[in-house]
Amino acid sequence: MAEGIGDALASIEITQSQIDQYHTDGYLVLESVVSERVCDALKSRMSELMASFEPDTVRSIFTTNEQSRHTDQYFMESANNVSFFFEEEAFDDAGALKQPLELSINKVGHGLHFQDPVFKAFSLSAVWGELLSKLGMIEPRAAQSMYIFKQPGIGGEVNCHQDSTFLYTTPMSVIGLWFAVEDATLENGCLWGIPKGHQHGLLKRFERNSPESIETKMVTLKEHEWDQSELVAIPVPKGSLVVLNGEFPHLSYANRSGVSRHAYAIHAVDDTCEYPELNWLQAAKGSSFVPFQAK
Ligand code: FE2
Repeated sequence: MAEGIGDALASIEITQSQIDQYHTDGYLVLESVVSERVCDALKSRMSELMASFEPDTVRSIFTTNEQSRHTDQYFMESANNVSFFFEEEAFDDAGALKQPLELSINKVGHGLHFQDPVFKAFSLSAVWGELLSKLGMIEPRAAQSMYIFKQPGIGGEVNCHQDSTFLYTTPMSVIGLWFAVEDATLENGCLWGIPKGHQHGLLKRFERNSPESIETKMVTLKEHEWDQSELVAIPVPKGSLVVLNGEFPHLSYANRSGVSRHAYAIHAVDDTCEYPELNWLQAAKGSSFVPFQAK
């Protein structure tokens, strides 16, 4: 299955006006980039990974709420693993799962792109490296990946944030590739963002208290309140790619509908930029972030 995925990805035609639009607005929607078959292959591989997960061993919860962001060893080690994070609303007061395990996971990350053969074949395809080069990256590297479920009924809200808050480089270089594995609609929690909002620069930085520490803090770089009235919805059909500048402010609301909204995201950094030791996400000792395949 892994080999078939890489072969199934066609090269992306992108016009200069789309490139300009990306730089001006901070995001770009490319529909019909990934075939239905490849989306289904990613989804079914994720089902297999879920089936192998032993929930008794760990109960990490994912939240972007910065005051309660759950940082622990499991989270830190997820940089180089296939790790599972529960929805905040997954457990009842007694600590038991309210619904089946496969409907209780918020996301899986952050090393799918090199730890799992199927996700690796998809994520490191030359197609994405070429696209990132066209968007200005000199040496694109895949730094992290996550499969996001946005579960029906309990898929939690993700607050307005900029991805570079969690993945900082000097100068700024982060680009997110957000793939709709299923339709993302107004009802099931599609992305929303503020066009041109990236031009305000980065507002906050999430960093370790010191290199190798698992203690973290949120540092304010710039005082600014996002104007919620400027948010636009970015609903996209299955197979679409939403390209996000690392400083593009975006969010998604809770999914109170009856259908899931699976998405897969890869975050790339430019290897020519300085990568701080204080970023929570660090490559394994002696390794570096993985390059995309050559053409
Ligand atoms: Fe994000």
